[in-house]
Amino acid sequence: MRKTAGEAERIQLRRLFGVSGARLRAMIGAFHGEMRRGLAGEPGSLQMLPAYVDIPTGLERGTFLALDLGGTNVRVLWVELPGDGSSPTLVEDQFQLSREQIASEGKLLFGAIARFIGRFLGERNLSGRLPLGFTFSFAIRQRSIARGELIAWTKGWTAEGVVGRDVVELLNAALGEEGVPGVRVVSLNNDTTGTLMALAFLDADCDAGCILGTGTNICYRERTAEIRKPTGPYDREFMVVNMESGNFNASLPRNRYDVLLDGASENLGSQAEEKMVSGKYLGELARLVVADLCGRGLMFGGRLPEIFAARGKFGSEHLSEIEADETPAADEARARLEDWGIRPADGDDSRFLRDIARLISGRAARIAAAALAATVTKNDPALDRPHVIAVDGSVFHKYPRFRARMEETFGELYRDRADRLWLASMQDGSGFGAAIIAAATIGSSGGAVSGFREKPDF
Ligand code: BGC
Repeated sequence: MRKTAGEAERIQLRRLFGVSGARLRAMIGAFHGEMRRGLAGEPGSLQMLPAYVDIPTGLERGTFLALDLGGTNVRVLWVELPGDGSSPTLVEDQFQLSREQIASEGKLLFGAIARFIGRFLGERNLSGRLPLGFTFSFAIRQRSIARGELIAWTKGWTAEGVVGRDVVELLNAALGEEGVPGVRVVSLNNDTTGTLMALAFLDADCDAGCILGTGTNICYRERTAEIRKPTGPYDREFMVVNMESGNFNASLPRNRYDVLLDGASENLGSQAEEKMVSGKYLGELARLVVADLCGRGLMFGGRLPEIFAARGKFGSEHLSEIEADETPAADEARARLEDWGIRPADGDDSRFLRDIARLISGRAARIAAAALAATVTKNDPALDRPHVIAVDGSVFHKYPRFRARMEETFGELYRDRADRLWLASMQDGSGFGAAIIAAATIGSSGGAVSGFREKPDF
């Protein structure tokens, strides 16, 4: 007789992927410790990278280009900030990087980006000196706002010749080589910082930025005096700190599937929290669970379907489609399985797969919420003030009930003060944020653009 996953396996999985309230509190305590260590320059899993910028005044003005590089979608923006509180003008275009461009040579990567910027300007007849704000969604070690070395690639990027190099220099060199004159990179920031800036431009209570997408990370506003490790020159009272929280690894409830996933990843031993929380990995975790259960004859009649057979085929978008099904018998999930070539799909398998999805994403949402709660409570332990957290990323915006589960976790942890932690959706803000940082960097004069007098008609 065909075996199906019994209650014992379900209980076992719930145990493996469950995160109790006590564990969340332990994580928060450990997170505070890691934040302090990172700020002091001691070894730990949070790098706490100074971003050399504070939140904007909302009165920044001028005309800027922004480059948003972080996913395979590269975006270029032309941004006009009026400087009087009225709405900015944004014009945007994007293109897709190929696997080869992100995984072979840095020169190829930056060359493609420079050509795209050139085309963006050419198509709109823009010329003249244009300052550019650069959002680079990886860990960068900065000593000023206009330089920063890539510490390590994440999210499966591997282009050679970039780690340890100043990415501003690489971009400027590529712009020169590709014949894109007049564009000058004036500032560099992480995507979390860009997202924080974009929302803080509108809301002064915004003091943290978070990405929950392919990768994950958090930045927040810290008192400069708290950053005790040596930093470059900076004279303001507060500074944004990019925590690189995806690398957090203290007190995480890791299980054998996490260990397996890490072992086959491009960055073994790094990004422990990211590997439990972000879109690059949620589908893969589910695939590992399914492959294990199937290998024990407990799913799919012991025959592993193609989509679960190799790393990278079953993505988080597939997992989210399964979880989106709220029918009692998981009929829609079953139909999805059939779309993916599993015929005839079994009702038990589709229900079980949906349970697995709920466990994996539920754990992710709880851990993501704890990391944000820890960030904010370091400096406001009793949540005496409201905190607006600018959040972007596909997992946050598209994964069913992800945000709701994060909010439920805040409720469980802080009860009637939970609403002092406000998750504010900031979609595609990191490019706009880079333009604001560029404006704050070069002062209020802005960039002069020649080639048109009136606002161009895009
Ligand atoms: C990177 C961070 C980035 C995050 C979200 C992580 O893999 O290390 O710098 O902010 O992804 O894009």
